[in-house]
Amino acid sequence: VMDVNAKKLGAPVQSTMYGIFFEDINYAADGGLYAELIMNRSFEFPNNFAGWDISGNVSLKDDGPFERNPHYVRMAPASHRDKHTMIENQGFFGIGVKGGEEYRFSVWARVPDGGSAKLWIDLVDNATMGDDQKLGNASVDVSGKEWKKYTAVIKPKRTFAKAHLRVWGDSKATTDVEHVSLFPVKTWKGRENGMRQDLAQALNDMHPGVFRFPGGCIVEGTDLETRYQWKNTVGPVENRPLNENRWHYTFTGRYFPNYYQSYGLGFFEFFQLCEDFGCEPLPVISCGLSCQFQNPDPTKPGVHVPVDQLDEYIQDALDLVEFANGDVNTKWGKVRADMGHPAPFNLKFLGVGNEQWDYDEKHGGYGPVFTERLKKFSDALRAKYPNLKLIGTTGPNSEGWDFDLLQPRMKELKVDLYDEHYYRDEKWFLSHGLRYDSYDRKGPRVFAGEYACHGRGKKWNHYETSLYEAAHMTGIERNADLVHMATYAPLFAHVEGWQWRPDAIWYDNLRSFKSVSYYVQQMFAMNKGTNVLPLTMDKKPVAGQEGQDGLFASSVFDKTTGEIIVKVVNTSKQAQPVTLNLQGIKGSRTAETLTLSWSGSMDDENTLDQPEKITPKTGSIGCTADKKQAVLNDELPAMSFRIY
Ligand code: AHR
Repeated sequence: VMDVNAKKLGAPVQSTMYGIFFEDINYAADGGLYAELIMNRSFEFPNNFAGWDISGNVSLKDDGPFERNPHYVRMAPASHRDKHTMIENQGFFGIGVKGGEEYRFSVWARVPDGGSAKLWIDLVDNATMGDDQKLGNASVDVSGKEWKKYTAVIKPKRTFAKAHLRVWGDSKATTDVEHVSLFPVKTWKGRENGMRQDLAQALNDMHPGVFRFPGGCIVEGTDLETRYQWKNTVGPVENRPLNENRWHYTFTGRYFPNYYQSYGLGFFEFFQLCEDFGCEPLPVISCGLSCQFQNPDPTKPGVHVPVDQLDEYIQDALDLVEFANGDVNTKWGKVRADMGHPAPFNLKFLGVGNEQWDYDEKHGGYGPVFTERLKKFSDALRAKYPNLKLIGTTGPNSEGWDFDLLQPRMKELKVDLYDEHYYRDEKWFLSHGLRYDSYDRKGPRVFAGEYACHGRGKKWNHYETSLYEAAHMTGIERNADLVHMATYAPLFAHVEGWQWRPDAIWYDNLRSFKSVSYYVQQMFAMNKGTNVLPLTMDKKPVAGQEGQDGLFASSVFDKTTGEIIVKVVNTSKQAQPVTLNLQGIKGSRTAETLTLSWSGSMDDENTLDQPEKITPKTGSIGCTADKKQAVLNDELPAMSFRIY
């Protein structure tokens, strides 16, 4: 039996409560959300022809038109009638194209000795011989010694997930080519430097309140040189320099030699997506400590910036606020305006550092490595932007010494929120329903910035762990006075290129599916209400125990719709009767329901072939009325989540 006091409005639920966390892991950006289909389009990978097959008379040059991407390719006539000069790109795990749809090919090119030349472009299916090999083609006429951009549209005649793009050189004239690109014409919002439509739509449909970007570990980099540098990600895409991805190296035993960041999806695009989705942008910047402190002595320079040399990093943070919010007459505000967005992006939150920690006496005694850096950022940012909300971090573990050490320090430093991470097993999720009930209310607010239930011995997406995430989220929601943001992680994974799982959304080159965890997030986000309502069950909650008889619940009121919303998760293996007393509500009525339930194996999940195998279903249920209240009697299926 659960009593909901429908007349007692509790803490506001922040608009930022449920959001998304984006990191370029698992080919989430290049090869994923970013719709570019050509890998190594600027020939800047350390192996300049990585991803390309070449034949005929092809050579590499390095005095191209884009200073930060200087390499390009010279395609000269081959010496024999039967020999052809050609470059062929394999895309990311192939190039996915749909029959009848349009694809925009573009290339920067010139004819070095003047005159004119023709480039022939084919989309091909190398698994098929004969006439059917060519899926579509186009050509561009190049003229003159000046570098110019040429475009053509290709319409493949059939769908194929593993196409290659072939560019044939002119048999009589030498041609230089640079920044070879192919995008679907249909991208999210039709933008030329756009996002893959299905994946951006999936994000939009999560109804996020906040969008944390660009990571994760990639913020920090494997070393300082490979940290995420937002200034390299803005301005014309042709001149955004390549960065080695942190997830080039991985924990899964596989190695991804071709995993780089083109930065085609950069900070401008992130801010633009936030605007599209109507959510708050939350960028995170490097605090000068590289990922997971590879140097045993973190005070030594090399992978960490000495505290007295942080100016460049702090300036990056200050300039980022100017880029997002500054007037068009400011240096960085102008960069934004020149990219087509004179209006500010209205940035309110900024994260400093990802998973950092301090070293106490028990752990090397190196001292407050993170917090002394954070303080310098905080002093500078607070002085210039007093209204900006700063987000610190409590390290990689939601428990343990970094957490215990950093949580009080976040309070001392007066950050507005701190970011805590927990990838924990089933037992942890079920026994931490009261996690936030006992937190200090006088300190900063909480941003549960990365979390997911990782099954013990079953580290993949499956129904059971997603349900436990829902159970845990009722605890987040009950504590909405404290927890102002929560973002499941990671977000995206390519089925052929993942480093980490579980993840919210999976895809191949043409298809995608939403995991059950995605639907859990969506169910909360679409029913977050505006204020917590007190909800009590008929037993006393006990810390460390699995809800009450395996039931977890929370309730909110939505001032804008007048709805009372109750969420109940049954984590027990039996169906359970549930009575909801809606105190203060008179008269009988009908409650709409949204239910996530599954009678198959608890290891089941949606797949590319069955993307909608497990999805929430709508329904309704009658409420009777006694003198005091409306009463709803229901039976909740075993292992299910229902929103009333
Ligand atoms: O989400 C994957 C990784 O987990 C993130 O990059 C990092 O912040 C955490 O350790």
